[in-house]
Amino acid sequence: MSDLAIFGGTPVRKEKLYYGHQCIDSADIDAVVEVLKSDYLTCGPKITELEQKLCALTGAKYAVVCSNGTAALHMACQAAGVSTGDEVITTPITFAASANCALYCGAKPVFADIDENTYNISPDCVEEKITGKTKAVVAVDFTGQAVELERLQSICKKQGLVLIEDGAHSIGTKYKGAYVGSIADMTTFSFHPVKTITGGEGGAVLTNSETYYKKLLLYRSHGITRDAKLLEKESHGSWYYEQVDLGMNYRMTDIQAALIGSQLSKLQKFSDRRKEIVAMYNKAFAELPEIFVQKEILESDTTRHLYILRLQLDKLTCSRKEFFEAMAAEGVCCNVHYIPVYYHPYYEKMGYKKGLCPKAEKLYEEMMSLPLHCGLKNQDVEDVIHAVRKIVNHYRK
Ligand SMILES: Cc1ncc(COP(=O)(O)O)c(C=O)c1O
Repeated sequence: MSDLAIFGGTPVRKEKLYYGHQCIDSADIDAVVEVLKSDYLTCGPKITELEQKLCALTGAKYAVVCSNGTAALHMACQAAGVSTGDEVITTPITFAASANCALYCGAKPVFADIDENTYNISPDCVEEKITGKTKAVVAVDFTGQAVELERLQSICKKQGLVLIEDGAHSIGTKYKGAYVGSIADMTTFSFHPVKTITGGEGGAVLTNSETYYKKLLLYRSHGITRDAKLLEKESHGSWYYEQVDLGMNYRMTDIQAALIGSQLSKLQKFSDRRKEIVAMYNKAFAELPEIFVQKEILESDTTRHLYILRLQLDKLTCSRKEFFEAMAAEGVCCNVHYIPVYYHPYYEKMGYKKGLCPKAEKLYEEMMSLPLHCGLKNQDVEDVIHAVRKIVNHYRK
């Protein structure tokens, strides 16, 4: 008889653990309440304050905060000049938003395969996918690990492409000592609650280019400006503004900005704790031949957003689905990041087919995301490791 909970044994955890959770303290609550009592709920001083904090953290010259990470990607593509008929190269192992941003601009997402060790987009595969129509590369720092920025920058520069780094997972990560946000042509962040720091929702685009910065400001708010230098007609008076381009309402509220600003002051603490948890998992799983531990490039000092448990299925008698369900029965609620984007029906209907990126597809069959957030105690992490060992022992070939 097996002692696995899925077969009626005692679960490792009675109280369930989840893969992600926000960490909110009383300082965060106070920061939000202060805004609620103030004159500005949106378009107020907290927006500029947060943008300045993001620049100070990363070393980027400009930051434009917005409603969410998807909006940030859309604005970045628009600022890069992505439009109808263009192609944008990205990875299939990402949230749909990294590819959808190309579609929003009328362009075609083109999927390049991943590196099988780091799970990030492979620069070699990016090179293979470049055509005369390619306009930009959206490179995702998957799990928080920086993409191979130096190679991607050199490819993009040589081919005249814009490099947009989707840093939804990677705030706090450094590449060759420099913070993500200060390196690519534009870098986007997400402040969704499962991310390292949160505003409920929220996003940002960071850049060193004044040209992109000015465009991003316009796109965030309808393409409307009061800037005298941008007005095309004579002002009617001090109330006057013009719509000079087509933008969206992608504004962030001051409520979100205050929460993100408060969370940002704890980024180092959050990052350190995430690193400790990752180190505990890596040490334990390095001893299990049935588990493949994600490789880290030397250049990335990673603040890890996700921890991927990758099964070596040829050494186990179960499928990923059986393993995933056994984990849930032990009280450890995992997730899977991600279903390859082009598997989604919307993409299939556009003609994308299975087989496009074999390494990404193989990873998808073998992976699940373990709990990783600052609310986890060491005992919680030990419980997750215990559950993995218990299930591996049961299904070992
Ligand atoms: C890699 C990646 N890009 C973009 C996004 C979109 O961010 P948001 O949910 O803030 O719109 C996410 C969010 O999950 C993401 O994980």
